[in-house]
Amino acid sequence: MGITNQTSISDFLLLGFSQHPEQQPLLFVLFLAGYLVTVLGNLLIVLAIGSDPHLHTPMYFFLANLSFVDTCFSCTIVPKVLVNLHTQHYTISHTGCLVQMYFFMALALLDDFLLAVMAYDRYMAICLPLHYSTVMCPQRCLLLVTASWLCSHLLAFSLSLLMSHFSFCASHSIPHFFCDVPPLLKLACSDTHIFQVTMLTEAVLSGMIPLTCVLVSYAHIIHTVLRIPSAGGKHKVFSTCGSHLTVVTLFYGTLFLVYFRPSSSYSADTGMVMSVIYTMVTAMMNPFIYSLRNRDMKGALWRFFSWRKCSTQ
Ligand SMILES: *[C@@H]1O[C@H](CO)[C@@H](O)[C@H](O)[C@H]1NC(C)=O
Repeated sequence: MGITNQTSISDFLLLGFSQHPEQQPLLFVLFLAGYLVTVLGNLLIVLAIGSDPHLHTPMYFFLANLSFVDTCFSCTIVPKVLVNLHTQHYTISHTGCLVQMYFFMALALLDDFLLAVMAYDRYMAICLPLHYSTVMCPQRCLLLVTASWLCSHLLAFSLSLLMSHFSFCASHSIPHFFCDVPPLLKLACSDTHIFQVTMLTEAVLSGMIPLTCVLVSYAHIIHTVLRIPSAGGKHKVFSTCGSHLTVVTLFYGTLFLVYFRPSSSYSADTGMVMSVIYTMVTAMMNPFIYSLRNRDMKGALWRFFSWRKCSTQ
């Protein structure tokens, strides 16, 4: 019962971690631990925000959405890695690969859009507080979230559709631990010109527009905060915005390091280390960044647990 038995012609092999079999138990434990922390931490944030009426404000609704997206994001990648490491079979079907790529792109784009929406929300709250409640009404928040979902899925769908027409004739071995775009493009033997133009256009649009929104919002916020006379007021604003900025920097920093290099210099090894950071660490850090430095979140988590205790007694 070798691998060949179960491998059909169109299957791919995810060979990212297969070179060093002695490291696989360690990798398995690390990925499993990271996965549990990410899923539990993010779900806890969603539950704490949902169960606490104090936190039913746009900022926390967006944060709950971000945590939910991060949970899904890690579910598209890590379970497959764990199964592959455990069974030492590295196959993934052609469809499975495309589906994984689709969700990976859609959820990463969604993260990107939500970060921009969150920056805009902070800008309205801090720089135009008098208009905040009319601009950020529940319908508007829902619209922003829905638009982000639609855009990210549309962009990811168009690329996956183009990718699904590619043929892969020479090799089906992906030197990576999930079906990411650059290693798949390297294997394709169809004409990838249209795909690359589409991808570049989408990357520029979905990178530049949200990033500009984030930078402009924070430039205004910093300008406004510097004019607040009281040190206490400054501190409060900086402590919430500090968390946002940390997450934004982590997200865009790793994104640029992974993807904004010429594809000729795409080296599988450094690409993979950066991808681990990008796929695992960013999603895992969000709950800590937001809850450890934020008194309202800590209060909500505290109330969430004491409420649990009361209701089980
Ligand atoms: C996402 O945001 C919308 C709009 O603010 C909100 O109604 C919804 O409850 C949020 N979803 C989650 C999972 O928190």
